[in-house]
Amino acid sequence: MSTENSKNGFSSSFGAIMAAAGSAVGLGNIWRFPYICGKYGGGAFLLVYICFVFFIGMVLMMSEFVIGRRTQSTPARAYPLLRPDKPRWRMVGLLGLATCFLILGVYLVISGWTLNYFWESLTGTLGSIDNDGFGDHFKQFASSAGRPAVSLLLFLLFTLLVIIGGVEKGIERISKLLMPILVVLLIVMCVRSLTLDGASAGVAYLFQPDFSKLTGEGVLAALGQALFSLSVGMGVMIVYGSYLPLNDNILKTSMWITVCDFFIAILAGVAIFPAVFATGQEPTGGPGLVYQVLPVVFNSFGSLGRLFSVVFFLLLSLAALTSAISLLEALTAWLNEKGMKRAVAAVLVSLCVSVVAVAASFSFGVWGSVKLGSLTIFDLLDKLTGTYLPPICAFLTIVFFGWVMKKEDIMDELSNHGTVKIGYFKVFYFFLVRFVAPLSLLVVLVTGFLN
Ligand code: PHE
Repeated sequence: MSTENSKNGFSSSFGAIMAAAGSAVGLGNIWRFPYICGKYGGGAFLLVYICFVFFIGMVLMMSEFVIGRRTQSTPARAYPLLRPDKPRWRMVGLLGLATCFLILGVYLVISGWTLNYFWESLTGTLGSIDNDGFGDHFKQFASSAGRPAVSLLLFLLFTLLVIIGGVEKGIERISKLLMPILVVLLIVMCVRSLTLDGASAGVAYLFQPDFSKLTGEGVLAALGQALFSLSVGMGVMIVYGSYLPLNDNILKTSMWITVCDFFIAILAGVAIFPAVFATGQEPTGGPGLVYQVLPVVFNSFGSLGRLFSVVFFLLLSLAALTSAISLLEALTAWLNEKGMKRAVAAVLVSLCVSVVAVAASFSFGVWGSVKLGSLTIFDLLDKLTGTYLPPICAFLTIVFFGWVMKKEDIMDELSNHGTVKIGYFKVFYFFLVRFVAPLSLLVVLVTGFLN
């Protein structure tokens, strides 16, 4: 069988897998995981997070790949194609796409920060600050109006250029190269962080569960983070599933991506928490945590610090780029499916999302007092897109997959039309898909909301 997909798919299984992994691995692992884990108490959060990643996140990834490859469509068309007699399910696809749009808005803000930190490492600005100054430096930068906005728009421009360049050429090439380098760099940073004076408190914080710190809200946050980090729930993996080669083994691919994504989040945790404690900072430092702590780690590398810092923020920007690409791609593919030209669609989405992103960015400074309750625009979007919306979308997706979509279609797609053994199917379908995943999603959502 040819590995070439019928649509504008990836040229090889490896390329498609790397692109999906590129979507999963990003700021969610390195920026958001440590900050949320710190906010909700460390070790206990991690334990719950692990369960969600493997029992819910991975199951959803497989489901989305199946839906996407089966229908060769974006979420908006995939659901009604699978059950033409139940056209209302289309709304789930649309809710997912709306979620993608909002996620992209938040994502661009942090991507812009990362790009700026890359630039400041390169020009030596960051290296000239001493360890006590990084907190203030970050706050000053994030609260200024111009710089963060310009950085995020520049980042959006890069993303747009890759999307207009086309799926295969753009995404695949970038993804293939980067992930391995990022992992090696993170490992070196872990070693450094672990050998700082006072690092052990950070290790204990991350790995010794203290369940008294875990609330219903924390469990919901762990679930949201697991889905956010794997890019599942909102239909991005349905779009990428439609690009997967027809002979790709969906179980293997999903497992591989899930393990990688999880491993990188843990590496980020080990790189950051020991340094947080060694430098006397608070693990609850919020969205700026990584940007205030990691420069301290780089400084401790002595003369090599600048090089490390440059390479790290460059790679993190690129990891963010492959995730942002997947979000913009999902939205572009949707409009394209409705008949709009790809390039026009991509530009239109970019224009709209830049408004959201700049507004969110301003909430660290000039619009800091614009609040809903106690939440700024950024906080609100971050909570919505990282905590509430992914589990809601994921719940609806898994209910469709387990109870509405035809079982025969799923078996046929998972087994590549009977050519791959799926001995795991009974446990997967009758246990995880039909019961464990939807029930856990429901319980966590309800308790999280009531909290
Ligand atoms: N998973 C990405 C990350 O961890 C973010 C993302 C979420 C991308 C949802 C696509 C869809 O950075």
